[in-house]
Amino acid sequence: METLTITRPDDCHLHVRNGAILKAVLPHTARQFARAVIMPNLKPPVTTVAQALAYRDEILQAIPEGVTFTPLMTLYLTASTPIEEIKRAAECEYIHAFKLYPAGATTNSDAGVADVTKIHSLLAALEKYDLPLLIHGEVTDEDCDIFDRERVFIERYLLEIVANFPALRIVLEHVTTKEAVEFVESASDKISATITPQHLLFNRNAMLAGGIKPHYYCLPILKRETHRLALVRAATSGNPKFFLGTDSAPHLTDLKENSCGCAGCYSALAALELYAEAFESVNALDKLEGFASFYGADFYGLPRNIDSVTLEKSDWIIPAIYDGITPLKAGKLLHWKMG
Ligand code: DOR
Ligand code: ZN
Repeated sequence: METLTITRPDDCHLHVRNGAILKAVLPHTARQFARAVIMPNLKPPVTTVAQALAYRDEILQAIPEGVTFTPLMTLYLTASTPIEEIKRAAECEYIHAFKLYPAGATTNSDAGVADVTKIHSLLAALEKYDLPLLIHGEVTDEDCDIFDRERVFIERYLLEIVANFPALRIVLEHVTTKEAVEFVESASDKISATITPQHLLFNRNAMLAGGIKPHYYCLPILKRETHRLALVRAATSGNPKFFLGTDSAPHLTDLKENSCGCAGCYSALAALELYAEAFESVNALDKLEGFASFYGADFYGLPRNIDSVTLEKSDWIIPAIYDGITPLKAGKLLHWKMG
């Protein structure tokens, strides 16, 4: 049987929620990944080191017996985050970054930053303490077309942030456009990006053609095919600025199959297999290990993992529903399977 063995990967962008959903979803990620960068958009958001440490304990409790998994915690940046909290976060070995959500951009972002041009002192502190800033890069103006929101965020805000804070390490999360790829490629080595499996595998037709498919709805929204091709090129290029971040974002099925459905794709059930499909589609499986296992760790200044995982070329069907959550590609055939 054909197999693919790579160094155990890290998921550099993950939502695991808390309570019952956390217990249901965490085993899927912990089975495949050694570590994951945990998003702080809980209700209420994780804005302090003390909250992040309590959340970390809850995550540790949800790891199945005998499994080794390390959550890499982040804090939710607000316009009123005290500089002291940034210093405390920098001094805490368990906190690895701050996350910037423009207010209203996505799930649980109400407490985010309403005016991105008014947080200079916070960005200066992150730069000074060398804490990475993870950015949900979309403008929130109601009159900006939803398919343009990432491009406009880069033009309107990100170019200026990068120019004003040249030493600030930034991850432009879940990039979805050709313009975002070009921005990251032409920026300094302080600037990197994560790419999700859904944005590598699907364009907006998957969500909208032949009926509306809410399980393909996430933010930033799937774009047209030219953008997907640019993302596949970036992910499989061997450029260390691009690395794996699933943005796996579980929502109960009835909250997605809804007249106002939630944004988010639950990919953790078969994350590595989904990426393998995308890389194989352009004969670039040899580039998967760097993208999945090396470049994220290098960016965060963490040691690369030592053990490995093996995928087998074997057909299986992703279950239709799992603990009330519908996985990405539910009921569809996959050609790779982790043993
Ligand atoms: O689709 C998304 N879901 N995008 C995000 O930025 C947040 C996430 C969530 O938390 O559900
Ligand atoms: Zn996310």
